[in-house]
Amino acid sequence: MNYLIVGGNSGIANTVAQNLLSDGHNVITCGREEWKGDSHDNHTHHVLNGVTEVDQIELPEELNGLLYAPGTINLKPFRGLKDDDYLHDFEVNALGAVRAVRHAQNALKKGENASVVLFSTVAVTQGMPFHASVAMSKGAVEGLTRTLAAEFAPKIRVNAVAPSLSDTPLASSLLSNDKRRESGAERHPLKRVGTADDIANAALYLLKNDSSWVSGQILHVDGGMSKLRV
Ligand SMILES: NC(=O)c1ccc[n+]([C@@H]2O[C@H](COP(=O)([O-])OP(=O)(O)OC[C@H]3O[C@@H](n4cnc5c(N)ncnc54)[C@H](OP(=O)(O)O)[C@@H]3O)[C@@H](O)[C@H]2O)c1
Repeated sequence: MNYLIVGGNSGIANTVAQNLLSDGHNVITCGREEWKGDSHDNHTHHVLNGVTEVDQIELPEELNGLLYAPGTINLKPFRGLKDDDYLHDFEVNALGAVRAVRHAQNALKKGENASVVLFSTVAVTQGMPFHASVAMSKGAVEGLTRTLAAEFAPKIRVNAVAPSLSDTPLASSLLSNDKRRESGAERHPLKRVGTADDIANAALYLLKNDSSWVSGQILHVDGGMSKLRV
């Protein structure tokens, strides 16, 4: 199978890419830096200046899956958010996903059991202070997910994963000491923060054929944060 992972050098996308590579799939990754992991014959990595260049990635005739990982955690009080914050967050989280899907659409259409996986956040379902910009852009991703799932059915499935705070480089400033880590864990009904594996397992489920009857869903992998009060 052929997979395009937008991202791949770190965090959730890295775990997904390593898993697909070790299962023998052909994996294309990209990012703003050279590949940091081991080299594999079934892997190609592209260095890009950013998500505006995602359409420059050379693709095979057929793709079976696309994962779009780039995201932001730009948390500020509403008063401190400028237009540029909103525009940047929208560009990385939402418009980048649009560009990636547009670029991969023909190859996905030719691929067997093709699946697209995008990323939202718990902060779309659960209102949280300081999340106005990121929640707006991820809310757009949720709308995009359901629209494309309808438009591309039955050929291409489209779903998103909505994580809560998970231990990846993106969230490092929120987990930078024991006190922050403990209070992050305490806020979740399941009393811990997520790991890259927690989220990657959900993304892999949606990418692979195990989820062949699932489309248009937002899978909440969030320690119970979005739905439970305990
Ligand atoms: N971790 C959390 O707590 C959390 C919570 C809610 C939602 N999420 C969402 O989950 C997704 C994955 O997050 P993560 O925690 O795994 O983040 P991460 O560790 O920062 O990984 C993001 C990946 O995307 C790439 N990327 C980021 N910005 C990019 C840009 N402007 N252009 C090109 N590539 C870019 C990065 O590659 P390079 O750095 O090599 O460019 C990296 O491989 C994101 O969409 C995020 O919003 C995460």
